[in-house]
Amino acid sequence: TRVAVIGGGRNCEHDVSLASAAAVADGLDTAGYHAVRLTIDPAGGWHNGDGTPIGLAAAVDVLRSCAVAFPVLHGPRGEDGTLAALCDLAGVPCVGSPLGAGALGMDKWVTKLVAGALGIATAPARLLTRADSPVYTHPVVVKPVAAGSSRGVTLVRDAAGLAPALDAAFAHDDRVLVEDLVTGREIDLAVLGRPDGSRVVAPALEIVVPAGEIFDYGAKYDSAPDFVVPAPLDDAARERLERAAVGMYDALGCAGVVRVDFFLTDDGPILNEVNTMPGFTARSQVPRMFAETGMSFDALLDLLVRDALP
Ligand code: DAL
Ligand code: MG
Repeated sequence: TRVAVIGGGRNCEHDVSLASAAAVADGLDTAGYHAVRLTIDPAGGWHNGDGTPIGLAAAVDVLRSCAVAFPVLHGPRGEDGTLAALCDLAGVPCVGSPLGAGALGMDKWVTKLVAGALGIATAPARLLTRADSPVYTHPVVVKPVAAGSSRGVTLVRDAAGLAPALDAAFAHDDRVLVEDLVTGREIDLAVLGRPDGSRVVAPALEIVVPAGEIFDYGAKYDSAPDFVVPAPLDDAARERLERAAVGMYDALGCAGVVRVDFFLTDDGPILNEVNTMPGFTARSQVPRMFAETGMSFDALLDLLVRDALP
């Protein structure tokens, strides 16, 4: 069975996606599929598996020659639903979330609004455009509304840090969030929706972050992050986290596997964000969480592809 594996992308998470896509393609080959590799370069051009540039029309033909597409893009113009929409218009079944869920999940402001409507707490935040001039009053995290892998995200602890942080965030997006700094344990949940409507929640994962730091790009990719699976949680906290994660999955209309990230504070869980195409190397969080249930990386990929096939 031919599976089109799409990686790269015209966005700030291009390199992260290349690593995820290579792992997914290799894993699918190991699982007995024929992975057909497609890459979108940083300028938006499409390339086939040997790196030859092909036009969009030829790329769509390649997608149509496959039983299913597996977009492994993170960030804008990929994870935000654009690729799901392309596959949908081309009539190719697609692994993962459809257009709506990708677009909503990529928007950290709308994610907050949805969470608030469900009674799920998020960090208090202000939405800014370039016309706003905020004044520093307390520690905040400044982030683009739509980005990923902590690109453009800065922890600001003094007035002097605010202007450069805003510049860094506005380099990625026209809308920026200034969020109150939340202190709590970083806990990730993975939700897998099955075609029969059941939802599988993998054991929670805790990211061990040194006190006073945030889990930023360097901590994510320049070193080996410290994960604990299953995260030590009491039953009440685990149930609240799982209910919130599944609630967000269904409210946004997700499909396939999604990672929902929380801070666990003394006052309960605070939702950080929803990733509709989370990092997908064998040592990324989601595969690590499913490995804890006895499901190998290749078996998880096989399940995602089988669920996406008509
Ligand atoms: N945005 C990165 C890839 C993640 O969520 O894992
Ligand atoms: Mg993210």
